[in-house]
Amino acid sequence: MIVLKTERELSIMREACRISAQALNLVGNAVEPGITTGELDEIAEKFIRSKGAVPNFKNYEGYPATACISINNEVIHGIPSKKRKICAGDIVSVDLGAKFEGYHGDNAATFACGDVSPEAKRLMDVTKQSLYEGIAAARSGGRIGDIGYAVQKYVEDRGFSVVRDFVGHGIGTEMHEPPEVPNFGTPGRGIRLLPGMTIAIEPMVNAGKHGVSVQPDGWTVLTRDGSLSAHFEHTVVITREGAKILTQE
Ligand code: MF3
Ligand code: CO
Repeated sequence: MIVLKTERELSIMREACRISAQALNLVGNAVEPGITTGELDEIAEKFIRSKGAVPNFKNYEGYPATACISINNEVIHGIPSKKRKICAGDIVSVDLGAKFEGYHGDNAATFACGDVSPEAKRLMDVTKQSLYEGIAAARSGGRIGDIGYAVQKYVEDRGFSVVRDFVGHGIGTEMHEPPEVPNFGTPGRGIRLLPGMTIAIEPMVNAGKHGVSVQPDGWTVLTRDGSLSAHFEHTVVITREGAKILTQE
């Protein structure tokens, strides 16, 4: 069931989302050559707990950490480790969230470590902008397919591809609520968007083909063709005046 949130619920969600955004920004600023993904995870967890919130990924279906940190050809769900050092030239996708007073925030961004290749830079720029295209298409009275279409068109017109096997989602008292929010689709199709709906829009974009595979660790998702991948995500609320981003500082 899709739950429309009241103003009271939205004000709590805003706080959960603000904490999530601050944690993401903190981690992004800490990305530098030599730091491990485990250290980045620790920064995120300490910050979220210091705000009286809890890292909502931790123990979610057995996930062992606060953040998912996925490097280069890793798409999503990379497990942080004190053994994994980030190198200059890497692109680092960080996905994390916080639960505060019963409500969830969820956001992601891809950060450059030092100077990255022109292709990597373009992939990051296109993925980020595709998220904003999706947000702009998330209008009250519109449909879920409008969002996916906007993301997909923006991405594919620029020669990249959107991942099909993982999608965005409703969010609220659960991290994953209905509806699914695919990053591909047909305008006018799917459920209707209504004021008070809170959704996480999260394009995952591959420089090569859209296919992905899961590593033997059961979590880390890789591009099948070894190409680079980027990921940006915001939690937003649908209003009569369009979708408003909740995951901001
Ligand atoms: N929050 C991620 C998403 O964007 C899901 C992470 S799965 C977890 O939907 F197990 F790591 F939490
Ligand atoms: Co999400």
